[in-house]
Amino acid sequence: MGRLQNKVAVVTGGAMGLGQAVAERFAAEGAKLALGDINADALEATAAKIAASGAEVTTLVGDVTEEANAIQLIEDAVAHYGHIDILVNVVGGSRNTKIWEMSVEDWDHVMRLNLRGTFLCTRQASQHMMKRRQGKIICFSSGAREGTPWSAYYSGASAYSTVKAGVHGFIRDVSMELAEYNINVNAVAPGPINTERVGAGLQRLNETVERSPNMMTPMGRLGEPSEVADAVLFLATDEASYISGHTIAVAGGR
Ligand SMILES: NC(=O)c1ccc[n+]([C@@H]2O[C@H](COP(=O)([O-])OP(=O)(O)OC[C@H]3O[C@@H](n4cnc5c(N)ncnc54)[C@H](O)[C@@H]3O)[C@@H](O)[C@H]2O)c1
Repeated sequence: MGRLQNKVAVVTGGAMGLGQAVAERFAAEGAKLALGDINADALEATAAKIAASGAEVTTLVGDVTEEANAIQLIEDAVAHYGHIDILVNVVGGSRNTKIWEMSVEDWDHVMRLNLRGTFLCTRQASQHMMKRRQGKIICFSSGAREGTPWSAYYSGASAYSTVKAGVHGFIRDVSMELAEYNINVNAVAPGPINTERVGAGLQRLNETVERSPNMMTPMGRLGEPSEVADAVLFLATDEASYISGHTIAVAGGR
């Protein structure tokens, strides 16, 4: 028996990076998956890999920051599997620019990408979870929620730090609203992680920054996607049944 045997999990941004790591880990633990992603080719490849491992998986191609797509992702999962046990809101990212050069478009993009889909999918999934009085919702914050000296200094990440602090605020309040329905709402806050998209750049940065006071992590290395997936898995199981409204740092001791 896997730790998520027969649990139904929706994962946004499940095609690549940390979302893919979460999806593959959940599948290995017996979950049935519904993946939503904007990248059709990558989504197809990840779903094929998961299906080949013997797990059940459905996909929806679309931008989850659009209300209709977020609603469809959740409703398709409920229609196919009958219910949802777990929602993982992974979609997010940054457009780094120093504050004095940041365009309104870049600021709005970062706010929307990190928070709008998280809000929309949580709103839709919670209605189904409330009926069954059970559920786990896990969102993606970042070590940046408390500021990132290296990003600030080199490239400017104020919009990203702002919005990831916003994810923490979101899970604090939503966890209280949903507590009486036995729904746990938490977040993970990864530090610099070795994903396909940002790993190489972070590795260069890690070799550039001075160890103190601007060191990226006390452990002095990037994290692996599987190390983030492990923390998400824990929050998705009943081992975390008395944890809600909490953001767990997966950030090499930072
Ligand atoms: N990689 C890191 O070091 C790191 C550190 C801290 C936090 N995070 C957070 O973890 C999450 C995942 O990061 P990642 O590095 O794996 O990202 P990634 O860019 O590698 O993967 C993101 C996935 O989301 C999909 N996606 C992007 N926009 C979408 C949209 N609007 N609708 C649907 N799908 C969309 C992409 O196609 C991709 O499959 C993000 O919230 C990110 O902010 C990452």
